[in-house]
Amino acid sequence: MSLLTIMPSGKSIEAGEGTSLLAAILAADVALTHKCDGKAACGTCHVFVHEGRKGLSKIARVENEKLDSIVGVGSKSRLACQALILGTENVKVELLGFGSGF
Ligand code: FES
Repeated sequence: MSLLTIMPSGKSIEAGEGTSLLAAILAADVALTHKCDGKAACGTCHVFVHEGRKGLSKIARVENEKLDSIVGVGSKSRLACQALILGTENVKVELLGFGSGF
């Protein structure tokens, strides 16, 4: 289990190993657009991971290629549908802009 904190609301939820950030965020009742339903094809689930990056699965090629095509990507960027929670490290993510529910 990891504690996932979702900014800007600050809502927290416990997430089990192997859960995607997207699934955990939706389970916390926080809206996050995910147009391609987790296929790393749309980029709408782009989030920033501020803490606990080592507690997430590594960026695979398909995610990397999609991130390369998104405006505003930085070193903290992940696709929430591709980043899986591993281990027990606490994770803090920030939802971005349009479609993030805020
Ligand atoms: S839901 Fe489309 S890239 Fe994550």
